[in-house]
Amino acid sequence: METEVVIIEEKNIDDVAKENLKKAGQIIKDGGLVAFPTETVYGLGGDALNPKSSQKIYAAKGRPSDNPLIVHVAEFEDLTRIVSSVPDSAKKLAAAFWPGPLTMIMNKNDKVPYETTGGLDTVAIRMPNNQIALELIRQSGGYIAAPSANTSGRPSPTLARYCVEDLSGKIEMIIDGGQVGIGIESTIVDLTCEVPMILRPGYITADMLKEVLGEISIDRTIIDSSSTQKPKAPGMKYRHYAPKGELTIVQGSQDSVVSYINEVTKTSMEQGKRVGIIGTDATKDLYKATIVKSVGTRDDESTIAHELFKVLREFDDENVDIMFSESFDDSGIGQAIMNRLLKAAGHHVITV
Ligand code: TXA
Ligand code: MG
Repeated sequence: METEVVIIEEKNIDDVAKENLKKAGQIIKDGGLVAFPTETVYGLGGDALNPKSSQKIYAAKGRPSDNPLIVHVAEFEDLTRIVSSVPDSAKKLAAAFWPGPLTMIMNKNDKVPYETTGGLDTVAIRMPNNQIALELIRQSGGYIAAPSANTSGRPSPTLARYCVEDLSGKIEMIIDGGQVGIGIESTIVDLTCEVPMILRPGYITADMLKEVLGEISIDRTIIDSSSTQKPKAPGMKYRHYAPKGELTIVQGSQDSVVSYINEVTKTSMEQGKRVGIIGTDATKDLYKATIVKSVGTRDDESTIAHELFKVLREFDDENVDIMFSESFDDSGIGQAIMNRLLKAAGHHVITV
């Protein structure tokens, strides 16, 4: 299959862009797949109410079909048509955070096929904050099932060229809307439990949710690597974002982290290995390795979320054998950053 790539600027959705979005919407209505930008990461979209489309999504990603998809809507009223009832908490959260990087899990009704929910009676729903995504959802009939637009196991794409890398030849269209704003996937909150529970940390933090809901819990399995329980979001059990090189997270004071990393890097390079380091603006000049990258600044951790997956993909392209990364604060958005980084490292952490 030939994959058409169209470029659309979010800030300038002119007549040509509208025509392209209409065409993309028709592809989805006809049961085809389109990769598109959201504010978090690129999504791989198909008609959420068409079981065949969901099956195609799993096939294109090489994703296990017990791992449910998120349904994307453009209007709150559309949500009410695919759930058995709308909890008050959903109304409050939507008013506070939609459109935005928050996915809510509710009980589904018969309109949503089990192919989309991986066999579950619940459905994950979100309204993305990106004009291209919102217009595409409207043009395609209102319900787009979209996982991140990467091959299963690779870092989520934050640029269209990574969708091209992973999905070219497998889907009908890729919409290139430039680099995404946030860079890590949405926060997922389960509203079917007595106390709403965070199943995946993201840009919307536990404190932000608590402010709206009063009470919030968190699935321990996502923060406790020694937990043997199964995570509640089926997708969280898979080792995501596995880079090609072996990644180790090093935690400790800045000085000891830098000197430890430099020491082991020297030994590895003497053995002929290519070593990549994920540092920050403040430390990148202190490292000596084959490749050193800054992932952002600790003064504003959203810069780190924005660059993290891109940096991991770049190291893949540069064929490093070994990687070291600094560690980040496990609070606020840092919790989401560490969750993704720990997965990429297969929970390999050294304290110095
Ligand atoms: O930011 C995002 O959420 C992006 C963009 C494209 O919107 N999408 C995304 O989708 O990250 P995906 O498929 O890569 O991750 C969806 C996660 C998986 O871990 C899946 O197991 C979980 O959501 N999930 C979906 N439906 C669920 C349900 N009914 N119950 C529990 N977990 C669910
Ligand atoms: Mg994903």
